[in-house]
Amino acid sequence: MELPLPCRSRFFFPISSLIIITLLSCSVLGVNGIPGNETDRLALLEFKAFLSDPLGVLDSWNITIHFCQWYGVTCGRRHRRVIALDLRSLNLGGIISPSIGNLTFLRVLNIQNNSFHSRIPPEVGHLYRLRGLHLNNNSLDGPIPPSLSRCFNLVILRIHFNMLAGNLPTELSSLSKLKGLILYANGFTGPIPGSYGNLSSLVNLGTTRNELGGMIPDTLGNLQNLKVLSLGANNFVGTIPTSIFNISSLESLDVTKNQLVGSLPSDLGFTLPVLQFLSFGLNHFTGPIPKTLSNLSDLTLFNINRNNFTGEAPSFQKMNELRRVTIGSNHLGGRQVGDLDFLCTLTNSTKLETLTFHSNNFKGNIPECISNLSTTLKSFSSVKNMLSGGLPGTIGNLINLEQFFMDGNNISGNIPSEIGNLARLKQLYLGWNEFSEEIPHTMGNLSMLTHLSLRSNSLQGAIPSSLSKCRSLLLLDLADNKLSGAIPPEIMEISSLSIYADFSSNNLTDKLPMEVGNLKNLGILILQDNRISGEIPSSLGSCIMMENLYMQDNLFEGSIPSTLGNLKGIRNLNLSNNMLSGRIPKFLEDLNLTSLGLALNEFEGAVPTGGIFKNASATSLIGNKHLCGGLAEFRLPKCNTEEPRRVGTMNSARIIIISSVSGLLGLLLILVLLYILWCKRQRKAAASEFSRDGLWKVSYQSLLKATNGFSSINLIGSGSFGLVFRGVFDWNQTIVAVKVLNLKRYRAAKSFISECEALRNIRHRNLVKVITACSGTDYQGNDFKALIYEFMVNGSLDGWLHPIVKTIKTKEEAPRQLTLLQRLNISIDVASALDYLHNQCDVPIVHCDLKPSNVLLDDEMTAHVGDFGLVRFLPEATRESIADPSSSIGVKGSLGYIAPGKIKTLHSSCLLCPFFYYLFKGQMKARLTK
Ligand SMILES: *[C@@H]1O[C@H](CO)[C@@H](O)[C@H](O)[C@H]1NC(C)=O
Ligand SMILES: *[C@@H]1O[C@H](CO)[C@@H](O)[C@H](O)[C@H]1NC(C)=O
Ligand SMILES: *[C@@H]1O[C@H](CO)[C@@H](O)[C@H](O)[C@H]1NC(C)=O
Ligand SMILES: *[C@@H]1O[C@H](CO)[C@@H](O)[C@H](O)[C@H]1NC(C)=O
Ligand SMILES: *[C@@H]1O[C@H](CO)[C@@H](O)[C@H](O)[C@H]1NC(C)=O
Ligand SMILES: *[C@@H]1O[C@H](CO)[C@@H](O)[C@H](O)[C@H]1NC(C)=O
Repeated sequence: MELPLPCRSRFFFPISSLIIITLLSCSVLGVNGIPGNETDRLALLEFKAFLSDPLGVLDSWNITIHFCQWYGVTCGRRHRRVIALDLRSLNLGGIISPSIGNLTFLRVLNIQNNSFHSRIPPEVGHLYRLRGLHLNNNSLDGPIPPSLSRCFNLVILRIHFNMLAGNLPTELSSLSKLKGLILYANGFTGPIPGSYGNLSSLVNLGTTRNELGGMIPDTLGNLQNLKVLSLGANNFVGTIPTSIFNISSLESLDVTKNQLVGSLPSDLGFTLPVLQFLSFGLNHFTGPIPKTLSNLSDLTLFNINRNNFTGEAPSFQKMNELRRVTIGSNHLGGRQVGDLDFLCTLTNSTKLETLTFHSNNFKGNIPECISNLSTTLKSFSSVKNMLSGGLPGTIGNLINLEQFFMDGNNISGNIPSEIGNLARLKQLYLGWNEFSEEIPHTMGNLSMLTHLSLRSNSLQGAIPSSLSKCRSLLLLDLADNKLSGAIPPEIMEISSLSIYADFSSNNLTDKLPMEVGNLKNLGILILQDNRISGEIPSSLGSCIMMENLYMQDNLFEGSIPSTLGNLKGIRNLNLSNNMLSGRIPKFLEDLNLTSLGLALNEFEGAVPTGGIFKNASATSLIGNKHLCGGLAEFRLPKCNTEEPRRVGTMNSARIIIISSVSGLLGLLLILVLLYILWCKRQRKAAASEFSRDGLWKVSYQSLLKATNGFSSINLIGSGSFGLVFRGVFDWNQTIVAVKVLNLKRYRAAKSFISECEALRNIRHRNLVKVITACSGTDYQGNDFKALIYEFMVNGSLDGWLHPIVKTIKTKEEAPRQLTLLQRLNISIDVASALDYLHNQCDVPIVHCDLKPSNVLLDDEMTAHVGDFGLVRFLPEATRESIADPSSSIGVKGSLGYIAPGKIKTLHSSCLLCPFFYYLFKGQMKARLTK
């Protein structure tokens, strides 16, 4: 442990001993008597040496210009010492060097929005002049160093959006000038120290999105300058201390998503008069909403979603600044008369954007005044209440509505045609009500609509063909109504339909239009329980994204079209209870089905025996009189003997061949096993560190030793999911690279699994060889996962393309350059690795993260592709559909889905070009300039 002197004495020691020189030369001296400006220069260079700087902004930090002119550096005018360092948003990586502590005149350090990792060095505590420390939006981990408490001039500490952890140090309570303590989105645990009530200057305390817990300390009530108190998304328990409700300066109080209980003080509206932002959502608060709330005329946000509040909704009459009112999922209302009066008190809130009061007990008719709500309204939800009466046509006034949710009420009458005026509507949910009459044609005007659900009403008449003009629809749900007539062919032109289309439980008749084949993005089509007749259109085979197809309980006839064999992604297919006939097609065996319904039809002939037909519980066949064969569980009669006999004789011939071949194979297998056993024994004698499957066995302990306790000297890289160390196993002196996964990153564990999975079965000279993996717990009992690779002496390609200048000295060495031949060889190596992954593995593998930093070079400059953390496997089915040019589909990125086949083509053509361009760029430039 270092025992640093307090900032003051470090500084005053040289001052007092060299005071005369100081006075004479008018310069400020740094530690050890070196002129202070020199200390600063060295400290900055040391700081730079620990950075990676892909944009090269720190190239200006060189000897040719004075450090006060270096990018991001500000010096004091008189003494030429660094007073501010502003390196925000520069894509910098690496660690914060402890040398930062030698910039003793520093007042502001801003390195926000970069990729710094590892710890905040305790040496920051030497910066006693520091006023602003902005480390937010990096990947820093470890605790807040308690030494920060010695920076007693600190006014603002912003360390949000990092991966910092541990308890909040009580020592910080001595920072009497601190105004902003912004900690949100880290992994801090434990309570808020009660002593933070001493931070008398504090204006903003932000701890949202951590894992803090315990009671909220009532000493926080002492913070009489506090304006913002954000405690949301933690694990706080108990009640909010009453002292908090007495901080009359409070403008924002956010305790969302904790486990708080209790009710709100009835005088809240008087004790917190300037409140603008009040968020109590996702807790267990009970009791009524205080009447005095209506006094808060500055309120812009009122959120009490998901609590157990009871009684009436408050009056919002005086709150003309309101933007969001969210009071859903409580027990409000229930008196019938006057329940919805609060809606009319919102008509003067001319900035209102969101109004949700779903899942309460509000009763009564929808008041006409809702059409007087501000036209700024974008989102309205009254889902799951007991609203009744009709939906007023004046709803069409709210022309900026984007989401309108009214599911699960008792609203009756027609859907007003004025709904067509809501041109910006994206989501319209009117399901589970009592709407009757026809669907208005004006719905076709809603060209931005993506989600339309009218299910479980009593709508009648035909489906309006104008709906086809809703060209953005992803989801269409008309199920469980009384709709009749044919499904208009125009509906099938909505090629954006992808999530699902549900027409079930209506009285629809006629044929399924041929145009159904246009629904190429549709995943689920539900037609069940109608009276649709005719043959199943063969065009249905073009719906290649189909996963679930439910056509049961209709009047379909004819045979199953062979084109359905193209639906390679289909999982559930139900054709039960129709009038289908003919043989059950063989191709159903080859589809990757999880359930198949063919019951209650008129199928005949032999039941196939492969694929889904091997699973009797997933296949229903009952009620087909002329089927035979299949699994015994189907209890079908044996097929007539003509064919089977021939099959029998063939079988006996086969049996002879099969048995002799398998005998030979068996013998071979035994020999191989014996050989392997022998090898094992030999090897065991050689090195006891090999485990039984030929992999090295390594423990956390041995990795700790090999990497010198994961020391930063051995740190050779940091990837998206963890750190990479160089290590040497002393039992065989092998040099390895150890990738330690940062399990705090939620994707890291997944990445570990996918990397193990990917590397288990693949071997290629141009892929990085994994020696073994280690998964267990470290000495603190935390999960620990690491992958151990061959060590690549020449580092990553990235390092060659963008050499990092470590110090001034190495700068003078000739920079490493790749020759054209080497570049060519590297690209051939990378290409053959990809060819192997894409075309020669059992399951094609897509790397998904190919970039120079993932290409490593060995001592002979052979390239090896590594880092399989984002790898994807392509299922067999999609691979075939790629080969079939007829099934090519556009890349529908906007639907949130790119067909896997497309990813593959993208990967091998488009993604590689920039990669190679990148690789040769330097070389080309060099040639051109020559
Ligand atoms: C540091 O200050 C001394 C004395 O003023 C001066 O001679 C020297 O050139 C300065 N060096 C730098 C790097 O500014
Ligand atoms: C030093 O930085 C300056 C300013 O960016 C630049 O013009 C100059 O080329 C750099 N010198 C060296 C040797 O890199
Ligand atoms: C963060 O940095 C990136 C560049 O690294 C920049 O594009 C982005 O605008 C920055 N974000 C903010 C909020 O400053
Ligand atoms: C800070 O300055 C001290 C005294 O000159 C020196 O010993 C130390 O190496 C410097 N620290 C760093 C990290 O540069
Ligand atoms: C920090 O990250 C958050 C969340 O990613 C983002 O909203 C914010 O703009 C970022 N701030 C800066 C300064 O980059
Ligand atoms: C809206 O404001 C007007 C003018 O200030 C006032 O007369 C009216 O009563 C208010 N209406 C509501 C519902 O608050």
